[in-house]
Amino acid sequence: MGVSRHTKFMLGLVYLSYCVYGNFLALSSVVALGANIICNKIPGLAPKQRAICRGRPDAIVAIGEGAKLGHTECQFQFRNLRWNCTNVGYGGSMFGYEQLTGSREAAFMYAISSAGVTYAITQSCSLGNLTNCSCDKDKMDGKLAPEGWKWGGCSADIKYGLKLARKFMDAREIAENARSLMNLHNNRAGRKAVKDNMGTDCKCHGVSGSCTTKTCWTTLPPFRKIGDALKRRYRKSKLVVPYLGRRARTPISLILKRSKRPHRKPRRSHLVFLEKSPNYCDYDQKTGSMGTAGRSCNRTSLAPDGCDLMCCGRGYNTHQYTKTWQCNCKFHWCCYVNCNRCSERTEEYTCK
Ligand SMILES: *[C@@H]1O[C@H](CO)[C@@H](O)[C@H](O)[C@H]1NC(C)=O
Ligand SMILES: *[C@@H]1O[C@H](CO)[C@@H](O)[C@H](O)[C@H]1NC(C)=O
Ligand SMILES: *[C@@H]1O[C@H](CO)[C@@H](O)[C@H](O)[C@H]1NC(C)=O
Ligand SMILES: *[C@@H]1O[C@H](CO)[C@@H](O)[C@H](O)[C@H]1NC(C)=O
Repeated sequence: MGVSRHTKFMLGLVYLSYCVYGNFLALSSVVALGANIICNKIPGLAPKQRAICRGRPDAIVAIGEGAKLGHTECQFQFRNLRWNCTNVGYGGSMFGYEQLTGSREAAFMYAISSAGVTYAITQSCSLGNLTNCSCDKDKMDGKLAPEGWKWGGCSADIKYGLKLARKFMDAREIAENARSLMNLHNNRAGRKAVKDNMGTDCKCHGVSGSCTTKTCWTTLPPFRKIGDALKRRYRKSKLVVPYLGRRARTPISLILKRSKRPHRKPRRSHLVFLEKSPNYCDYDQKTGSMGTAGRSCNRTSLAPDGCDLMCCGRGYNTHQYTKTWQCNCKFHWCCYVNCNRCSERTEEYTCK
């Protein structure tokens, strides 16, 4: 009885960890339960991903954290837009965004999730949390770089992160159709965004600040930088169509729809999509749109966060409330603090 209750608790932990606001699963629970049970219980994994999970139970923690990192960043980047990274059916599953149609929002979601997983794996390597990776061995202490300085410290092993993220995230795409090609392309664009934004930190050694010798190491940027880069890519994402080749029954690649030259492929860094986006005004199970009812909006803004655009012309509700807080605090010697109470009437607006 006791054992089963303990197990249930642990499974609860794992389940929670993939919920949008859940706490994250600890490595100890993976160890405590065994890879088989954990990997079978994580909601939303494809069979091939479960197999990878069983072989690499240490990595699944980082992968889950990466998926969460991607989703949190997505919510930040889209906080003022009608689509805010939540879709019908989201929640519970690690990959709840798959129900989105092949829109540019889906493209962003795949790219940012793939970037998050790449990032979290690379970071876990540097922290020594994964069994098969650590710092980049090609940039070992003392090795001379072409630019004349020496590698030193721990360089983030982005190559390992890219490889494992690719193996895991791409394992979902088994169908040979245009949508799968779209997902694979955007997964790669996400990984590339991490790689392209890697930084180098250096330290000078020498008397009184002279840079007689310099040691450097590669670093991961703040994840926000990758989020910003992918948001710019989102704005310029490309409409593509499947290219069937001569005799193929399944598409072999994606080509740009609007292009002067025929059969032109999108760049690796581009986000690509197959379908026009819905306007996300109303709840629609088919497109995954949650609608904007209940979203808060800005009454005076003319931007997409303004009530006009956000509420799609349906109008908004006004909520009045009084905000109170301690203010004008003075410290008296010795020893007490005197404050006034300040209050302000505020209004909040939410879409009808
Ligand atoms: C990495 O390991 C340290 C201690 O070994 C732990 O405190 C930390 O939470 C781990 N981080 C991740 C991302 O797993
Ligand atoms: C680590 O790498 C070795 C050799 O490539 C492999 O045999 C082993 O299964 C790996 N361990 C894990 C936990 O992936
Ligand atoms: C996103 O929008 C949905 C409904 O449109 C809302 O329920 C949810 O709270 C929003 N999420 C965030 C983080 O603003
Ligand atoms: C609402 O929008 C206006 C104009 O864009 C801006 O000045 C103001 O700070 C916004 N208010 C809130 C609460 O975000």
